[in-house]
Amino acid sequence: MRRAVDRWRDDKGLFSRALDLGCGTGLVGEAFRAHVGELHGIDLSAKMLDRARRKGIYDAVHLEDVHDCLNRYAAEGTAFDLVVAAELFIYIGNLEPIFTGIATVLTPGALFAFSVEGCADSPFKLLRTGRYAHGEGYVRALASRHGLSVDVSDEIEIRQQADEFAAGRLYVLSAAP
Ligand SMILES: C[S@@+](CC[C@H](N)C(=O)[O-])C[C@H]1O[C@@H](n2cnc3c(N)ncnc32)[C@H](O)[C@@H]1O
Repeated sequence: MRRAVDRWRDDKGLFSRALDLGCGTGLVGEAFRAHVGELHGIDLSAKMLDRARRKGIYDAVHLEDVHDCLNRYAAEGTAFDLVVAAELFIYIGNLEPIFTGIATVLTPGALFAFSVEGCADSPFKLLRTGRYAHGEGYVRALASRHGLSVDVSDEIEIRQQADEFAAGRLYVLSAAP
């Protein structure tokens, strides 16, 4: 995800403030830490968040649902020039509310990077694994409805399941400058 973000950016300066949605133990935070001024991590799981907190890489961590945190940041007027969500949308089917929330907290020209498990035959669906998958057309339509450009859409192997890799997609979207 960090390589995809770097590949897209001409300006390789620091992001001012980044939001790691569903930060888990902080793997993505670690990858971005050196590239970000202020790093916020959000997760629903107290155990995950404790591990993230112990790494000492986040300036703020919140035990919170992602939708609630986006409403809170919007109400506070806190904005981000980078939002990342790695392996979060496998837990969320309808991405419309979260795109609405994210679009509200992005600064002009901000980047939004995320991964999804892919599906070809519907906008999104619940798989037998209990995870959600999202189609490329659905993601592109959401991006367009929220004024975001699709800068990167890469096919990736999102995770290893038994002996197989699950096919997914990595996106980097950008807000209008
Ligand atoms: C598969 S883990 C990925 C963690 C991390 N982003 C990474 O790539 O290593 C997904 C994380 O999202 C969190 N999560 C799921 N639904 C959430 C929600 N609605 N609000 C906040 N966190 C959520 C889970 O607790 C979990 O830590």
